[in-house]
Amino acid sequence: MANLPSSSLILLGLLALSFSLVLAVDQDFCVADPNAQVLVDGLVCKDPKLVEAQDFFFSGLDIAGNTSNQVGSKVTPVFAAQLPGLNTLGISMARLDYAPWGINPPHAHPRATEVFTVLEGQLEVGFVTSNPENRFIRKTLQKGDVFVFPIGLIHYEKNVGEGYAVAIAALSSQNPGAITIANAVFGSKPSMPSDVLAKAFQVDNGLVNYLQSKF
Ligand SMILES: *[C@@H]1O[C@H](CO)[C@@H](O)[C@H](O)[C@H]1NC(C)=O
Repeated sequence: MANLPSSSLILLGLLALSFSLVLAVDQDFCVADPNAQVLVDGLVCKDPKLVEAQDFFFSGLDIAGNTSNQVGSKVTPVFAAQLPGLNTLGISMARLDYAPWGINPPHAHPRATEVFTVLEGQLEVGFVTSNPENRFIRKTLQKGDVFVFPIGLIHYEKNVGEGYAVAIAALSSQNPGAITIANAVFGSKPSMPSDVLAKAFQVDNGLVNYLQSKF
């Protein structure tokens, strides 16, 4: 080792690191350990010998979410945080409930494509393609219909039926993330400068301040 140039040592170090990363995910599962000191996707796993059926289990998706809120919808996630056995497996799901005329406001998932299935009711769904086209794609879905929201694109759903609506979403990440546009833009903590938003939205500062007060 002593006579190897330092660049070789760095290379060896990187190789060792990549081997340990491969070892961490090249196995049947990596149940997220809530007691781990450091929890990075796939890098800290529960000892496989201590894993139980409960780690791969979630109960309660038969229960409707409470839609008594400003937007009239509720997402019940079943991500790695709720079902530790999903960790590193690149898949998760959610139940979505909509009050009559409720919406799931425009949002994007930075790490997942979403396959969306209507179980009850009638929902209008839409997404917008990326710059520069920003094409708006929209469809009304009935019970049993399936629609896909490609990864990272801004999308929404709106209940256009008479009663409550229910959907199930499947997502291509154990931790898909969500950026709700209005909350991220007008409700950031601390606030984005109102002059930046005023120029971006081509409105006056007063309207920006009003919108910021709402989120
Ligand atoms: C639903 O949420 C509202 C608003 O937070 C609350 O007042 C109400 O008690 C909740 N209903 C149920 C059944 O939990």
